[in-house]
Amino acid sequence: MPKHFLMCRPDYFAVEYAINPWMHPEIGASRDIAVRQWETLKAAYEELGHKVSLIDPIDGLPDMVFAANGALLAGGRVYGARFAYPERGPEGPAYLRWFAERGYETLEPAHVNEGEGDFLTLDRVILAGTGFRTDVAAHQEAQEYLGRPVVSLTLVDPRFYHLDTAMFPLDGSNIAYYPGAFSPGSLAVLRRMFPDAVLATAEDAEVLGLNAVSDGTNVVINAEASNLQLELKRRRYEVIPIDLSELRKAGGGPKCCTLEIRGENSS
Ligand code: ARG
Repeated sequence: MPKHFLMCRPDYFAVEYAINPWMHPEIGASRDIAVRQWETLKAAYEELGHKVSLIDPIDGLPDMVFAANGALLAGGRVYGARFAYPERGPEGPAYLRWFAERGYETLEPAHVNEGEGDFLTLDRVILAGTGFRTDVAAHQEAQEYLGRPVVSLTLVDPRFYHLDTAMFPLDGSNIAYYPGAFSPGSLAVLRRMFPDAVLATAEDAEVLGLNAVSDGTNVVINAEASNLQLELKRRRYEVIPIDLSELRKAGGGPKCCTLEIRGENSS
């Protein structure tokens, strides 16, 4: 089943402020390398048969490349983002406008949430992260607007500040995750819900290996996550390693650069 992704070329990418432990403005990052690496990610999706739409990057919003944070969609409805840090604030309305202009039904959120960065969609449930960015009140707001059950999970390690840095859906009913990123209660919930999950090592997590995108057959994943790649191959997934090391200097990987458009607009 081909997917439809929204991406944003990192034309204004930079590391010029620090809002997570991966970011070091004194070291910075190369925009040219980031653009080249991002192009390989986009090409990989197209090669797999997925459709990629683009939103125009905005000068002064260096993190806008991380499209996952722009919104959460279900059945063609768009739940907008409201960023925790003012540096990224204008991205929320920019992404929401992109969808509104294309005829999607949109909701401007009342509560802080960073889109698919903290909401991961499975067939029967949406898993939602809280602890660093997204407010738990937004989990309820998303559930009410989208009509999908939302399960709240608490993140405890600042390196894994978004749910999508600690977990990815393998398909509609199973996940891969790094246990060390979750509170004891949330971990117990995950063990109960996903007894057959792929458990990632600290090494995999530390290269943002969990920030991967699976279409149920192929997994697009950070090249350095070697243990996790082996385990995925053992489970008969097709592994597509991508080098996004420059974007990791902002704390992002393949999934961060990718917003899934779920359900087309009603018009
Ligand atoms: N520098 C960005 C931030 O801290 C990185 C966002 C990564 N996105 C993600 N979906 N995890 O907000």
